[in-house]
Amino acid sequence: MLNGSDRDSRKLDGSAVLAAYARWAPVYDLIFSGPLYWGRRATVNHVNALTGHVLEAGVGTGMSLPLYADHLRISGIDLSEDMLRRARKKYGSRRNIDDLQVMDAGEMSYPDNHFDVVVAMFVMTVVPDPDQVIRELERVTKPGGTVILVNHFSADKGLRAALERGLKRFGHRLGWNPEFPKSRVLGRTFLTLEGEETLSPFKLFTLLRLKKPA
Ligand SMILES: C[S@@+](CC[C@H](N)C(=O)[O-])C[C@H]1O[C@@H](n2cnc3c(N)ncnc32)[C@H](O)[C@@H]1O
Repeated sequence: MLNGSDRDSRKLDGSAVLAAYARWAPVYDLIFSGPLYWGRRATVNHVNALTGHVLEAGVGTGMSLPLYADHLRISGIDLSEDMLRRARKKYGSRRNIDDLQVMDAGEMSYPDNHFDVVVAMFVMTVVPDPDQVIRELERVTKPGGTVILVNHFSADKGLRAALERGLKRFGHRLGWNPEFPKSRVLGRTFLTLEGEETLSPFKLFTLLRLKKPA
């Protein structure tokens, strides 16, 4: 049996993520449609200016799906059946949706160099193994293709950094890792940083636009 502090320091793993999102799924849209709106809007604006086949990794309940332009083909994956079921129900029959599948972004069944654009919004702090996920996002992106990440990246110092360190012990319950610097995703693959935007609300989120070398 885990005591309180063992439980709080327990690492975020796949089963913790599934348990957390089984709890979040029924209320997710109600709580997160507002605070995460700007990140989704900014990402989709970039994506809609591109062409081809788009993968949204960690698509969740599919809140971004109705925002994608009709000229794109969209595939969405999520680890959580509880989240994905809601996306399928609401948007599965849209013309530009190719497939919505339960799949681990750290171990995808898609072939190499498959997608023109790959996006992961509010996902990298949630996955048990971000290194593996960023490598997989790179692998399935075509040479010359775009990867867009939106996330809250933790501060290096100051009050916010202290708060994020304090919240870390509750990561497995919240289903995300509050202490997550940008270096967890940058410089670990051949993806190069093309652009960076700070997003509302309160500059809490950052959009990173990365390119896979041609
Ligand atoms: C904070 S939610 C974001 C959902 C959606 N992107 C949005 O903008 O609302 C994080 C999502 O990532 C999913 N997730 C966590 N780990 C994953 C993994 N290894 N592979 C795929 N999805 C994962 C969760 O199930 C959850 O639906």
